[in-house]
Amino acid sequence: MCGIIGYAGLSPALPYLLKGLEQLEYRGYDSAGIAIMEESGPRVVKSVGSTARLKERIAGEQLPGSVGIGHTRWATHGAPSEANAHPQWAGPLYIVHNGIVENERVLREGLVADGEVFASDTDTETIVRLIYRTMKGGSGFSESVRRVLSLLEGSYSFLIAHADLEEPLIAVHRGAPLLLGACTHGVFVASDMTAFPVEVHSTIPLEKDDMVTIRADGRFEIISLAHSREREAKLVSRSHHGVHGKGEYPHYMFKEICEQPEMLGALLSGKIRRENGLLNVRFAAETEKVLSRARRIRIVGCGTSFHAGLLGKYRIESLAGIPVEVDIASEFRYRNPILDPENDLLIALTQSGETADTLAAIRMARASGVPTLALVNVEGSTATREADASIFLEAGPEFGVAATKTFLSQIAILTLIALRLSSDSRLAERTGLSKGGILEAFLKIPMLLDKSLSLSTGVTGIARRLAESRSVLFMGRGGDFPLALEGALKLKEITYIHAEGYAGGELKHGPLALVEEGTPVLSLLSPDPQLVPKMVSNMKETLSRGAFLISIGSDHYLDEFSPVSSMSLSLPDCPPVLFPLVAAVPLQLLAYHTACFKGLDVDRPRNLAKSVTVE
Ligand code: M6R
Repeated sequence: MCGIIGYAGLSPALPYLLKGLEQLEYRGYDSAGIAIMEESGPRVVKSVGSTARLKERIAGEQLPGSVGIGHTRWATHGAPSEANAHPQWAGPLYIVHNGIVENERVLREGLVADGEVFASDTDTETIVRLIYRTMKGGSGFSESVRRVLSLLEGSYSFLIAHADLEEPLIAVHRGAPLLLGACTHGVFVASDMTAFPVEVHSTIPLEKDDMVTIRADGRFEIISLAHSREREAKLVSRSHHGVHGKGEYPHYMFKEICEQPEMLGALLSGKIRRENGLLNVRFAAETEKVLSRARRIRIVGCGTSFHAGLLGKYRIESLAGIPVEVDIASEFRYRNPILDPENDLLIALTQSGETADTLAAIRMARASGVPTLALVNVEGSTATREADASIFLEAGPEFGVAATKTFLSQIAILTLIALRLSSDSRLAERTGLSKGGILEAFLKIPMLLDKSLSLSTGVTGIARRLAESRSVLFMGRGGDFPLALEGALKLKEITYIHAEGYAGGELKHGPLALVEEGTPVLSLLSPDPQLVPKMVSNMKETLSRGAFLISIGSDHYLDEFSPVSSMSLSLPDCPPVLFPLVAAVPLQLLAYHTACFKGLDVDRPRNLAKSVTVE
């Protein structure tokens, strides 16, 4: 989604803006632009396509201006075009904006009736024109911004620059994330902290209804519009952990896939503790509190996070015996779910912590008195601020649009939650293992992930075959079913090959009709003695219709699934409840290598954004 970067201080703004925009690319964008406040007047440069193109357009220009704003746009109002790219302007005002002004049409019609002539189709231009008109009516800059805010409906944020004034920048947070970044020579404003340069030592996450006025020398004041008073800036020191670029890797996605063993090892060592000689799962006190009173769990998330939630349901219901409902967040918020504040706990899965629908679900739950727990990768994100408790995914920054390590962390944490809430007797009955036994096996998973990563020759062979396909079916049973959904999502989002995930048992109820000579069908086989024979018989059903069978299963059952498969990958054996953690890796690699064979932009698939901050 759109990205904002701005700077006011003592150094030239241009290099910071260009670097910041490059860093924001991962969010997804179709055009970019900057405005620098020069002594000779503002210089605006915009371009459709990559930020590299924007750089080319401005190359060689001497622009020492030390106040500027920049933007990467992901089109909502109006097609991707130079006219619609930000900054938009009116008179001496230049604006960049994220989110949506929902009553834009009415506001624009009013302005047009009053004689305003618009240069773009954007709601952004409506904002800046309204503010400029208010100023022309005699109000000051910040007073005009405030007045116009009372007219705007929706969830958004913006950064507006004034070409002439002592206080040239105003930032407004009305629901879309925005942060300040402090350094010795000035202040930055950005929609996420990856846009900040290394010298930013502290960040200040803005809260909804904050308005910040920034002086040319970088000093600033935060006003809470909700409380009509100045608010103290809470500085959060910045961790640079993981913000290292791609290094020697060809793509962020590949780097992020490869980081998983180390990431998981560190995550588990913080959550699995040895107490009195026994292994146990421990979370922070506020998480323990909300978990301990849950009689029913409602999980919400979108896309990959939704799939992780489905897997969580399988684990929590089976191991902990607590009923779980899982919803796509955008459905949950509009389907009038029955919430029970006495018994329910809402778990919101959102790696970014900014997904609009998931945030809406958190707000709904809170309004009904239901406690909320967010599983989030971005510290200081809106979800962490609004939920009653949070568990950090500790995956480090994820720049590839395709979620990989954050998914692994989500399913690991949900499995840990299931284990935390399970009793020894129930666990023994469901898995044949003690809690200590499962946790011992869990601690070995990072090592098994290393082995999964080393299967690359087998994976590339399969990827070469998939790259020629038009459609791929994924299937699995039990916890492998959500994994099949996720495998299909990974493949479709970065290779543009049609892919669907199904529960093995559903095949005969419709999807089997899709199978024809050569259709690739990829089966997932956890080492579950009850499910393996069922899966093998589903595989045979597709085989007799001409399917090209690919299987990913545990070593332990290789003799069962390999003979019926044209290609198979065998993964190191582990308890069935942990198998999806190991099997997620080859699925990610398959999607990755298939996209590479097709010569596609792996990290920035078409039409998609990393963080979906609008409905
Ligand atoms: O930040 P979130 O986890 O809330 O994002 C939700 C989805 O947009 C996201 O999981 C998306 O499906 C993945 N990036 C796809 O790989």
